[in-house]
Formats: sequence, structure tokens, C-alpha cells
Amino acid sequence: MTSVLKIGGSILTDKTRPQCARMDEIERLAREIAAAASDLVLVHGAGSFGHAPAKKYGLPDRFSPEGLRVTHQSVVKLNRLVVEALVEAGLYAVPVHPFSGVLLREGRIEQMPVSPIEEMVKDGLLPVLHGDVAMDKTRQAGIVSGDQLVPYLARALRAEVIAVGTNVDGVLFQGEVLPVISREDLPRIDAHLGKGSGIDVTGGMRGKLLELLELAESGTSSVIFNAGIAGNITRALSGEELGTRVVRSR
Ligand code: IPE
Repeated sequence: MTSVLKIGGSILTDKTRPQCARMDEIERLAREIAAAASDLVLVHGAGSFGHAPAKKYGLPDRFSPEGLRVTHQSVVKLNRLVVEALVEAGLYAVPVHPFSGVLLREGRIEQMPVSPIEEMVKDGLLPVLHGDVAMDKTRQAGIVSGDQLVPYLARALRAEVIAVGTNVDGVLFQGEVLPVISREDLPRIDAHLGKGSGIDVTGGMRGKLLELLELAESGTSSVIFNAGIAGNITRALSGEELGTRVVRSR
């Protein structure tokens, strides 16, 4: 049984300060993943390593080779920290950089090599992807968020546990966590969806939810949970109910 876990950049970095990693949180993430022992693909957000340079160079709206290079190098730095922490925790973690293989069209993933990732998981490796810049067939430059990678990987790998960890308890509506949400609920709660803290070029909670609602409509449910609370990552990977479950409309 394969799991796809995303941990948002707001957990791993201080999103208000460029290239500011939270090493204690990265190490906790690694320990919690090691404790869960499942066949896993990990995707992490870019946090301030991605959003700050992307914004500085006007990505994705303006094409800038220098902006692409700088932003990619920056998110690779965060990826290295995450991979090293996972290795330290005893896992066979390996980096997989979306920039090297993803092709976008109109900002959406058109191509991405998934077979190598599938084989890695089968053979006991832990592929670690991340939000990244990517080439776009129609727009030259693009950004592929971890939130877009998750449903793509979940479908391609037929994953059974899909968990998206953020710095809030789930989808909040009038101060309460919604335990379950489907596309039908969107009009009612849309105006209340938070924008996310710090600089964010990929849409915060709304962007995340739209990706997962689309995945749910094809029959695969997922959870959005608070990865900032110790133990929650292990719980989510064990399939425990927490946060908000995103399901298909009735
Ligand atoms: C954004 O990735 C990628 C870049 C800005 C280059 P994400 O959207 O997955 O990152 P977080 O989770 O918001 O930090």
C-alpha cells in the first residue's frame, strides 16, 4: 500500500524569511516518518526557499532564466536538508527534483516520469520531491506546487493514503474544522478559505483544496491535517482520521 504525504513549506521553513529552515521541525518530520514505516512518496513544500525568489523574479508570469535557476537552486537546498534528516533517521531517502522531469502546459502537469518513483518505492527507497519551478510548453516558465504533485502521484501510483500536512488543523469554516468536505461545500465556504501566511505564489489553502477536491471526484479521498502537532504525521500515515477528509460529492 503506497502513501503520498505532503508537508507544507510553512512547517519546514519560516515563510516570512528567505531561506530560513526550521531544522527542529525537519528532524521531527524525519523521526515521525521513520516511525510510520510505510511505502511512501514524500513531497515537501518550498516555503520561503521557493516563494521568496519566485516572487522576486516575477515567476511564473514573467519568464526569467535567471529566476528559474536561482529559485530551483534554492528549493534544492531545502530538499537536501530534508533528505539528510530522513537519512539520519534511518531511511533510504533520495532526492527527486521535479524541474528535471516535469513538463507543464498552461501551468498544469502534462508529463512527469513516474515509473522510476514507483520502482524506488518498490525497492525500499523513499523518493523526496518538492515544489519547484518547471518548464511550461505554453508559458515558458511555470511553478509546480507540491499540491499539484500530490494528486498526480496519487493517481499514477494508485496510492491509498494521501495526506497533506499544513500549519492549520484542516479546512476551517467559522473557526471550526470541517471533518469532511466535498465539492458541494465549496460555494458555502469559499470566501472563508485562508490565504496562508507569508509570501505564497501557489494559492495557499484554496489552491490545496481545489487540487484535492478534483482528486476526490475521481474516487480517491485524502486528508488535510495539522503537521505542526507532534505525532500527527505518524497518525496520518497510519490512516487515522484527523483534520479534514476530502471526499467525492454525494
Ligand atoms: C511552491 O511549492 C514552489 C515554488 C514557489 C518554487 P509549494 O506551493 O508546494 O510550497 P508551499 O507548501 O506553499 O511552501
